[in-house]
Amino acid sequence: MAFPESFLQELKLRNDITELVSSYITLKRRGRNMVGLCPFHGEKTPSFNIYTENGSFYCFGCGVGGDVITFVMKMENLDYVDAVKLLAQRAGMNMPEDSYDDSMSRIRTRVYEANREAARYYYKTLYSPDGKSGLDYFHGRMLSDRTIRHFGLGFADDDWSSLCDYLIGKGFTKNELTAANLAVKQRSGSGVYDRFRNRVMFPIIDLRGNVVAFGGRIMTDEKPKYLNTSDTPVFKKSENLFSLNNAKNSGSRTLILCEGYMDVIAVNQAGFQNAVATLGTALTKEQAMLMKRYADEVVICYDSDEAGQKATARAIPILRSAGLLIRILTVPSGKDPDEFIKSKGADGAAAFKNLIDKSGNDVEYRLEKLKSSYNLNSSDGKVQFLEEAARVVAEIYSPIEREVYISKLCKEFEISKDSFQRQVDSITRRKNREDKRKEIRKIRNDLSGRGDKLDTEHAKKPRSSSAEEALIAYLINNPDSVEYISERVDPGMFRNELMKRYFTYFSDRIAQELDPLNNLTADFSEDERSRVYKILSKHSAIAQTRSALDEYIKIINEESKRLSKKDLSNMTAEEIQKYLNSKK
Ligand code: CTP
Ligand code: MN
Repeated sequence: MAFPESFLQELKLRNDITELVSSYITLKRRGRNMVGLCPFHGEKTPSFNIYTENGSFYCFGCGVGGDVITFVMKMENLDYVDAVKLLAQRAGMNMPEDSYDDSMSRIRTRVYEANREAARYYYKTLYSPDGKSGLDYFHGRMLSDRTIRHFGLGFADDDWSSLCDYLIGKGFTKNELTAANLAVKQRSGSGVYDRFRNRVMFPIIDLRGNVVAFGGRIMTDEKPKYLNTSDTPVFKKSENLFSLNNAKNSGSRTLILCEGYMDVIAVNQAGFQNAVATLGTALTKEQAMLMKRYADEVVICYDSDEAGQKATARAIPILRSAGLLIRILTVPSGKDPDEFIKSKGADGAAAFKNLIDKSGNDVEYRLEKLKSSYNLNSSDGKVQFLEEAARVVAEIYSPIEREVYISKLCKEFEISKDSFQRQVDSITRRKNREDKRKEIRKIRNDLSGRGDKLDTEHAKKPRSSSAEEALIAYLINNPDSVEYISERVDPGMFRNELMKRYFTYFSDRIAQELDPLNNLTADFSEDERSRVYKILSKHSAIAQTRSALDEYIKIINEESKRLSKKDLSNMTAEEIQKYLNSKK
């Protein structure tokens, strides 16, 4: 796959990176760059940098970097070709004919199409005689036909091949059906059979309205209760939320986070469009960041059983670090939200609204939990509770919020504000010291290259690696220096394999008069691409003078004459002698 170079160049020119990024996050000017809070990981101080001079970004916090295309890929969860399409559309450019239709992009398109057809088929089956048991099941669970249509629910019948037969009849190949995880290969032979059988079906729809996966529930007590689409070229369970496509249009900046499909649907039917659910797994950082794009606040509404409470405790820090406010809704008498709403009959909506209004924030929730685990009638119990409570309060980031809880607890337990405040402060100070230490360790490791999984050689050969890295940055920043450099340095002199690969690649591209950064996707992995932008962010064009260049070249020359132990052990005695002579 390749887009014409001139097309990519124009695309980047017409999509200004600062302008594009500003439409997602707030940027502030810092020196010649723009900085903001990274949209790809939760942070409170900005380490996300935009370099307007070369149209790139890099985050020092999470190490992600790239150009406008990378940004859109990550932000919109798109593959390369679709990100290019989106940017072209944004800039009012036409896509070049055909050139871009690589096989991966083609299979993705086909998987989307197969999923859409499958969803239609399941829906149609639900309302056919074959789907009666499914429709009865949904009606039995109090879902209206309107709700069923709204969520596009369906039914997979008991046949082993009805969906496969239908889709193959529509021109899909067996490979496309297995890629979509709608079909499974037979153990022997070349046949395929339907993955979902005799289950009611819940389609999972992404933010652009594509059906990306399904969940299927068995209607009896058999196991597994739910069967879900495995990860496919268009679906990653840990990065999607059920019904976010609906919730994002709710007009509310609050999301209700449930545990399951049925809860989300019941909550929707009760009039709350802003409900979402993780897909049968623990909440991930990616899902929290995704929520942060559409919400300021999340109401956790998990089951009130022990598993649900544990999941709540795990979700709190993840949502907090994504910068979300949190409230915790407790469903009474051990029910899940779906059962609760149903049990209230016609008053379900009002009763649920009441639970939302009553829900406290995460600090209140954690303090209540703590209270119930100590005997507050004994002095010992009180002391232990207050010590634990100080820890919870110390984690609050906002000073005002902290103050509110300190006052409240002191009043409630009739202790002096001074002593409690001191306790909280000492915990905060200790925590700050630890954070600082961690940060310093991280910076030190970063500089030394220790613990660097991508460039493992840097720590072993810091001098040569640093010079090689700086030279690569110089070359990208000053493409017209390519001849000067290639007369003095050749790839064979590089001691760091990754840097050698970069150097070879960039010199070649520049020699062909191509923009060095235009097409990294084809030749490098995601981490390798981010690393290029890290290198560029470390060495800005202005700081790199001509005399610095000569210094890099000198070091690379010197270092290339040094041999590693491994080299030595592979040399014959004669070669070693020759090497030693050359050093005299
Ligand atoms: N889940 C799953 N696989 C299972 C069980 C559960 O993927 N074998 C996921 C589903 O997304 C489900 C969620 O975990 O919706 C919560 O599970 P559970 O509480 O058991 O189901 P409910 O949503 O309450 O479903 P129902 O009311 O239909 O029993
Ligand atoms: Mn349930």
